[in-house]
Amino acid sequence: MRRFLVAGNWKMNGDSRRNRELVAGIVAGLQDSATVEVLVCPPLPYLAAVKSQLSGHSVLLGAQNVSEHAQGAYTGETAAGMLVDVGCSHVIVGHSERRALYGESSNVVASKFRAAADAGLIPVLCVGETLAEREAGQTEVVVGQQLAAVVETCGIAVFGRAVIAYEPVWAIGTGKVASPDEAQAVHRFIRDEIAARDETIAAGVQILYGGSMKGENADGLLSMPDIDGGLIGGASLKAADFLAITKAAQGI
Ligand code: PGA
Repeated sequence: MRRFLVAGNWKMNGDSRRNRELVAGIVAGLQDSATVEVLVCPPLPYLAAVKSQLSGHSVLLGAQNVSEHAQGAYTGETAAGMLVDVGCSHVIVGHSERRALYGESSNVVASKFRAAADAGLIPVLCVGETLAEREAGQTEVVVGQQLAAVVETCGIAVFGRAVIAYEPVWAIGTGKVASPDEAQAVHRFIRDEIAARDETIAAGVQILYGGSMKGENADGLLSMPDIDGGLIGGASLKAADFLAITKAAQGI
């Protein structure tokens, strides 16, 4: 039985004071649950502080990006081992903002995924199509290629300890959310693509939905059979909004 994962992607938001308030609000309002895992992904400079504030709580810590290299002369980059060292269990790789704004190709994403997995982190691999690609009927082609790039580089076994996030680009930060049926269809496709290589891994891998998820639409999305949680941007920045989603997951 897969557990839900509700993950907050804070993106480049917050400061020490606001982060403290946000984490305090989350841990105060969160009910422990055997069926729902909760993860927060703050900006890099705050990872250690958030980790220490989470001490004694079950909330997991993740980063938003990682270098494809293990160490060395890569100014400005952060190695996966360093993220482990400061207490991260997860790292987001291939977010559409990284792909679109920083030119990360599927090959780079695959290298980052491998670096994360090699260091013992759980990569959260983001895939998703643009509006133009959806309207051209290319959703499965695009998502299939993004997935295949990682499988070809890393193999299928690493997905035994990885998370996939389906994030239609047109739904990210737009307030436009995929309908539960639209999202479920792509989640099913992703699981089938994994199952074609390894059915046991496919049955166990958490596939999150991301893109304008909030308290009001979480229940419908999370009730779908292949939606195992959410990667939440905007609604992860206020404790009450984030907790509304964790509560929806706990109610299923
Ligand atoms: P959003 O972002 O919830 O603000 O749409 C989701 C994401 O980019 O991970």
